[in-house]
Amino acid sequence: MNELLAVAGRFHPLLLHLPIGLIAALAALEFLGALRRTPPPLTVIATLATLTQLAAAAAIASGLLLEQEGGYPEALADRHRNFALGFFAVCVVIGRLAKHEQRRGQLRAAIAVALALIAVAGHLGGSITHGDDFLFAPLERRAPPVDRLVEAPAATAPSNPVAEPRAAELDASSEVEYAAAPASQPPATTLSTFDEHIAPFFAQNCTACHGESKRKGRLTMHTREGLERGGASGPAFVAGNAGASLLVERMRLPLDDEEHMPPADKPQPSAAQIAMIEAWIAAGAPFEGRIELPVAPAVSAPTAQVESARVEFAPSQRDGSSAAASNSAPPAAALEALRERLAHVQSVAQDDPLLWIDFAAPAADIDDAQARALLEPLLEHVAELSLARTKVTDAIGELVARMPRLRRLDLRATAVTDASLAALAGAAELRELVLAQTAVSDAGVEALSKLAKLERVVLWSTRISASGAQALAASRPGLALELGDAPAAAALESESEVKFTSDAPLPGAGALPAALAPVNSVCPVSGSPVNPKYAVVFEARVIGFCCPNCPKEFWADPKAFAEKLK
Ligand code: HEC
Repeated sequence: MNELLAVAGRFHPLLLHLPIGLIAALAALEFLGALRRTPPPLTVIATLATLTQLAAAAAIASGLLLEQEGGYPEALADRHRNFALGFFAVCVVIGRLAKHEQRRGQLRAAIAVALALIAVAGHLGGSITHGDDFLFAPLERRAPPVDRLVEAPAATAPSNPVAEPRAAELDASSEVEYAAAPASQPPATTLSTFDEHIAPFFAQNCTACHGESKRKGRLTMHTREGLERGGASGPAFVAGNAGASLLVERMRLPLDDEEHMPPADKPQPSAAQIAMIEAWIAAGAPFEGRIELPVAPAVSAPTAQVESARVEFAPSQRDGSSAAASNSAPPAAALEALRERLAHVQSVAQDDPLLWIDFAAPAADIDDAQARALLEPLLEHVAELSLARTKVTDAIGELVARMPRLRRLDLRATAVTDASLAALAGAAELRELVLAQTAVSDAGVEALSKLAKLERVVLWSTRISASGAQALAASRPGLALELGDAPAAAALESESEVKFTSDAPLPGAGALPAALAPVNSVCPVSGSPVNPKYAVVFEARVIGFCCPNCPKEFWADPKAFAEKLK
């Protein structure tokens, strides 16, 4: 929009006071005059009526411009505009009536109507800028913020009374509707912080209206204090309970709901980003420290694109492997049931009937029976499943084993043990398995090593010992093991690893011709595995050693080792 027009629009809060003042003056003159039985001359009333019309016209014009800027709740803005226009019309009538002395009665009635209209218009305008309950909010004092902080973490019952009915509304639409950006692989979880991923999300999607300059719904999201304070309707989030958190709920409302956030005409966050915010809240909404987050890349698709990218589970005609594997669309009722429980469900790719299902939001309420009831109808379709932090136990292994297309499974911080791992053998397609913070132990290593397609397994904070991890690595050389010793988990002040010069590769060692490859795999001196960097040629054969010292011992008496090199 033209910047000058935008500026003109922002004069609305100033201009709107003119018609109010003028109509108040007009009414005061007329009614006080009537009381004193000395009515003011009609010319004065007519002049005031004309001025009021002009002022009302200016206020309305600037209001319409301001509305163009967006970000105003539509229904309220509509009603505000209608009452303002009504007021203007009545002002015109007042001007007409003020020309005839015999119409004085009608004139007074019209003035009363104008006063009523401007009062309602004014109230609606106030609700737009200050929130619905602005006027009477002081009467219904809310709990002081300190109490709120104390009770927040324990809140499994929604401490926000409006959350429940709206949550029901959310599911009332039968369409599978996530403002999904062109859906892709769900992001892998990463150890991240509020500052790295959560604050930037709010900055990109929310703070234009909930920040320094605008405080829509009396909610600000550019500071920790603002987020913790909440808005006109109370707390914005309930730490540990994403499902009861207003800001998640608003983002998850259908796009055409007038309370959907961000407003429908603004760029929408992706489903994966919303899941990231949910995961942050589910993890207790920490502002400091690192937590596992399903970090989602930012998207800024204009609404039009978002709508077209809406996931439809039409049977796929593509020949992609996953599509070919299962052509049937997942049963709508089962998807519905999942969303009713506020589980996150999304197809793994556009036009793909395979699903990514994440129980992050309702995790605390999901036990074996619930998970079974919700997932049983979808066994064929689950490709990525997160049961992280739910109450599932080893009984879940049997269910998961019946998911032939499961590729990624997250069981972190659940009660599963080695017993589940044995059952997983049925999930033949499993590529990635997260078992962090579970009680799996070395006894489960063998079952893990048998998962033929497994590429990555996350095992930090488990009972797997260093030797158990080594055994797993040895039996499955290609498998990526995450044991929590990655740099991300290291303390900031820790020094980088010291490099000894003897560790440096020998010149040319990297480019060893095949013919020079050692004939032995075990060091004849120490019995440790051979490092090809340390090799000697003896009797036309290349002999490998484990370290630079062993060749010296070997040369001292090669014959002594000959037996071992047979
Ligand atoms: C274009 C402006 C705009 C953007 C962007 C926006 N909002 Fe809002 N938001 C509003 C307005 C206006 C209201 C007040 C009216 C209402 O409650 O619907 C509001 C109200 C809210 C409320 C209710 C506050 C309360 O306590 O009543 C929440 C929660 C909220 N927004 C969350 C978000 C989140 C989360 C984002 C970012 C993902 C966001 N909003 C982005 C305009 C915006």
